Amino acid sequence: MGLEPFTKDSTIFRDENVLRDSHTPKTLIERDEELTAYQSALRPVVNGAQPKNLFLYGQTGVGKTLATKLVLERLSTDLEPMDDVDLHTVFLNCKSLSSSYQVAANLVNEFREPDNQIKTTGYPSGMINQMLWDHLNELDASHCLVVLDEVDSIGNDDDILYQVPRSNDNGLVDGTQVGVIGISNDFTFRDNLSARVKDSLCDEEILFSPYDANQLRRILEQRAEQAFHDDVLDDNVIPLAAAFAGQSSGSARQALRRLYKAGDIARDQGATLVTEGHIRLADRAVERDKVWEELLRVPTHSKLTLYALLMLEAEGELPAKRSAIYKRYRIAANRIDIDPRTDRTVHDRLSQLTLKGFLEVEEKNKGPKGGSYYQYQFSIRPELVTEALSEDSRVGELFD
Ligand SMILES: Nc1ncnc2c1ncn2[C@@H]1O[C@H](COP(=O)(O)OP(=O)(O)OP(=O)(O)O)[C@@H](O)[C@H]1O
Ligand SMILES: [Mg+2]
Repeated sequence: MGLEPFTKDSTIFRDENVLRDSHTPKTLIERDEELTAYQSALRPVVNGAQPKNLFLYGQTGVGKTLATKLVLERLSTDLEPMDDVDLHTVFLNCKSLSSSYQVAANLVNEFREPDNQIKTTGYPSGMINQMLWDHLNELDASHCLVVLDEVDSIGNDDDILYQVPRSNDNGLVDGTQVGVIGISNDFTFRDNLSARVKDSLCDEEILFSPYDANQLRRILEQRAEQAFHDDVLDDNVIPLAAAFAGQSSGSARQALRRLYKAGDIARDQGATLVTEGHIRLADRAVERDKVWEELLRVPTHSKLTLYALLMLEAEGELPAKRSAIYKRYRIAANRIDIDPRTDRTVHDRLSQLTLKGFLEVEEKNKGPKGGSYYQYQFSIRPELVTEALSEDSRVGELFD
């Protein structure tokens, strides 16, 4: 079969872009409590006082980034007529940054013109920090809010999360009152923040919980109205998409993807209606993509931990205790010349992999004497893990 002509299709979507991740809706629904907490933490700014430092956390796709954009937009608009308060905001996504140094260097660039950017490697770190303080001191604003989204990327190297929130108190920045908003979907990262970071960054913590199916339904309904033509969706399409996403993750992103994918499949089939069958197909496709993407993205030591479980699987030893997993983990790490981390790190990796839904954990009691231990096994197909790990340039060597 040759190429088919590209023809405009207007029967299903009115505006499919509304379903994409890049689309920013004008309102955040079903998050009133979180928004109230968020606004109250930033209220001091309006009164000219020191903003509170904030830490937002919750699983992926639950509206943390969207809430931040909308709250800051609203704050800026409301501040416009007030002469005594000028707010400067900096929004940095830290996804690809793995240290405090890189965050500081990228923040410096946020204050610079595109033709005057600094290289983000090679300077002594004291110098980078000084550049940052200089920029903050030069700001012609009474307040500066620095958003560090997906900040868990920096791992244990979290000094910047102490430095910036404390920059006024420590006399590094004078004149502009600085507040930091840190955002993370990694619960282990939050639990492992050093005590001094917790103390300075987390004046206020806001937890975004996963959405339940009813909340997801309302989010989808709101979006579907703009995205689809009238009467194109069968009645049970949205409830089903919401139910599937609710069960699997509670993520609005995942719910939107299902709806989008279902529309896409219907369009490809030349259908005029999106039906339950389309949603079921979409659910499978989205679930597979999601697991795959996340597996590719986990850090090296998580991949080695997964590899350890693959070894145990091959030995017929799953579910397994942490000690058995740690033993295999060390063997795997040594085999490809990576320094094994401590048992504690592997414990953290196991918790994180469980949270992400790759592993299942079961608590076992030792018997009448008390004490209990945990046993881990895969909750996704091991073949998928093998495939994903093989793609990794380091860990993939283990399969050679
Ligand atoms: N309450 C809501 N109302 C409308 N749309 C929402 C809501 N919550 C999330 N969304 C949509 O779901 C998607 C994911 O939301 P967002 O990016 O804010 O998640 P997040 O919590 O920042 O996730 P991550 O931790 O992965 O960065 C976005 O497309 C967003 O527009
Ligand atoms: Mg986000």
